[in-house]
Amino acid sequence: MTTRTTTLARSRDELAAALVEQDGAPGRGRPYRRAVVMTMGALHEGHLSLVAQARTLADHVVVTIFVNPLQFAPTEDLARYPRDLDADLALLTGPDLLGPDDVVFAPDVDVMYPGGDPVVRVTAGRLGDVLEGAIRPGHLDGVLTVVLKLLHLTRPDVALFGRKDAQQLAVVRRMVADLEVPVEVVGAPLVRDADGLALSSRNAYLSATQREQALALSAALRDGVAAADEGAAAVRAAATDRLAGLDVDYVALVDPDTFDDVPDDHSGEALLLLAARLGTTRLIDNTALVLGAHGREERA
Ligand code: PAF
Repeated sequence: MTTRTTTLARSRDELAAALVEQDGAPGRGRPYRRAVVMTMGALHEGHLSLVAQARTLADHVVVTIFVNPLQFAPTEDLARYPRDLDADLALLTGPDLLGPDDVVFAPDVDVMYPGGDPVVRVTAGRLGDVLEGAIRPGHLDGVLTVVLKLLHLTRPDVALFGRKDAQQLAVVRRMVADLEVPVEVVGAPLVRDADGLALSSRNAYLSATQREQALALSAALRDGVAAADEGAAAVRAAATDRLAGLDVDYVALVDPDTFDDVPDDHSGEALLLLAARLGTTRLIDNTALVLGAHGREERA
């Protein structure tokens, strides 16, 4: 089945046929042949920016749309997660996004997991036990398991993931390195609304009041960045103060690779990560920053 000019594949056979067609098409001399952007649908500008970046890296782009049950706990929002394939396809086939050589792979659960829940899964190990992994046990294992399956099914040269899910990006990078997966992983910039709120499919759940309250997350990141010269303790305190009154899951300042907390005397790169709940909606946000930059300049 096709939508406009982009191929929509719902089954493994349809995907395999579409990829064979891509393989047979003449390359256009760009550094990569095929890029994949994995999504759970409910697409927004953040996803579209990933697709636009994929276009610059590859001759062909595959976008996957699959709400992966493995990464939701029984208490989470799997059932109500927004699903609208037609709306997603309309967005993806907009100007400068997917074209005739590109593919959308939108399998049902039975197509992805034909034998039921997989017995053998990928584990994120220590990286899957902290922050998101501590609050959502098994979540990152579920993400890695579906990401590895989708990499096998789509056979890309490059896979793009948004930096908004910073811990997800870190565990995917680690899986690719540790398990020798032949793909380059590219982290793409986080996209925000004009008022600073990081784009997320879950923003759709927020009431107007909650959306206003949610702006505290990006404000807390800005406060953290502003305190970076004063060191880790000041960053943590500034971000925590700004989130006062919200139901906060964590404020963390970590090493970007290991996700270990940085010590108070750390100077150099770090990631400030936040998670908070607005009613039943859980939002995350993060920023990279350089700690003690002023002190380092003085020492230099
Ligand atoms: O980031 C997401 O939307 C999902 O975690 C992903 C990578 C598509 C895996 O289901």
